[in-house]
Amino acid sequence: MKSFSMQGAKILATGSAVPTSCFHNHDISKIVQTSDQWIVTRTGIRERRLLTGIDKSIITLAVTASINALNKVSMDASQIDLIILATSTPNDLFGSASQVQSKIGAINAVAFDLTAACSGFVLGIVTASQFIQNGSYRNVLVVGADSLSKWIDWSDRSTCILFGDAAGAVIIQACSEADNSILDFQLNTDGNYSSCLSISYQEEIRPHPILNLYQGSFKYIAMNGKEVYKFAVSQVPLSILKCINSLNLSINDIDWLLLHQANERILMAVAEKLSISSDKIISNLSKYGNTSAASIPLALDEALQQNKIAHNDIIVISGFGAGLTWGTVVVQWK
Ligand code: COA
Repeated sequence: MKSFSMQGAKILATGSAVPTSCFHNHDISKIVQTSDQWIVTRTGIRERRLLTGIDKSIITLAVTASINALNKVSMDASQIDLIILATSTPNDLFGSASQVQSKIGAINAVAFDLTAACSGFVLGIVTASQFIQNGSYRNVLVVGADSLSKWIDWSDRSTCILFGDAAGAVIIQACSEADNSILDFQLNTDGNYSSCLSISYQEEIRPHPILNLYQGSFKYIAMNGKEVYKFAVSQVPLSILKCINSLNLSINDIDWLLLHQANERILMAVAEKLSISSDKIISNLSKYGNTSAASIPLALDEALQQNKIAHNDIIVISGFGAGLTWGTVVVQWK
C-alpha cells in the first residue's frame, strides 16, 4: 500500500552521452554560407556532435547516458520504477521510452515520453518529483535526449548552425523531507507564439479520393530567431525571480545558473538582467551547440565531473523553447 505523505526527492546520479562525430564551425561553413567568426560571435558555439551513419537514433544516446548514471551509484536498472524520456525527436511517434526501458533492463519500470522541446528536461524533473514527493515511486530515471540533426534543413544557415545531438540522464530518488533537494518550480506556456519555433506536420494538398482523409509528413525545423531570442531574454529572468521569491531566496543565494544551452548571448543576458555574476553560469555549449532536451543534464553532468558543484549549493535551472514553453526548477545539491 502506497503512503501518500509528502517526502523528499533528490538527484542521486547523472550521466550523459554524445555522438563521436564532431563538426567544427569550419565544417558547417563548407555546406552553407557562414563563417566560424559569425557563428561564434552570434551564438558562442564552436562545434557540435552529430549522429552520423545509418540506424543511429536517440535510443543509443539515451541508453548510454542512463547506464552511465546507474553505474555511478552501482544501481541495478531493475530498481527504477519510472522512466521519463524527454524528447522531441523520437524514432517512434508512439513513444521511444519503452525501447530505453527494454535496452537498459529496467524490468520494473513504466516508461513514457514527454514532449516539451528544449524545456523537456525541466518538465521531466518536475514530473518525476511529483511522483516521488507524493509517495508513488522511489526511483525515477529522467532522460533528456534529442537528435535535431535529423530534423534540420542543412541548407538553412539560420538554423543548421545551432543544434547538436546528445543525451543526459538523472536518477531522482525519494529521501527524507529534510533532505529534499528539488525545492520549487515554476512553469509557463504561451501557445500564441508556437509558430516561432516548430517542426510542424503538413498535410498533403489532395485528400484520399474516397475517405476525404488528408495525410502528410513533418517539415524541417522552422524558427524566428529574433522572436525566440527576445522571448528567452525577457521571460526566463521573470520565471527565475518568481521561483526564488517563492522560496524566500535572494539572487545572492544562487550558486549556479544552469540555463538551457541555446546561445551564449542568451545566457549572458539573463545573468546580467538578474545581476548574477558570469562566473556562476554553467556553460558548455561551445562544444555541443543546442542539444534541446539534453542540454541541461549534459551540462550538469559535466559540471559535476569537474567538481564545480558543492554540497548545499543552490542551482537555478531554467529551460525554454518551442511551445513556447519555459520554466525554472530550484535544486539544492545534496
Ligand atoms: N551565417 C552568416 N550570416 C547569417 C547566418 C549564418 N549562419 N544566419 C543568418 N545570417 C545573416 C542574415 O541573413 C542576416 O543578413 P542581412 O542582415 O544581410 O539580412 C544577418 O546575418 C543577421 O541575421 P539575424 O537573423 O538578424 O541574426 P541574429 O543577430 O538575430 O542572430 C540567431 C541569429 C539565430 C543567432 C539569433 O537570433 C538567436 O540566437 N536566436 C535564438 C535562437 C535560439 O536560441 N533558438 C532555440 C531556442 S530553444
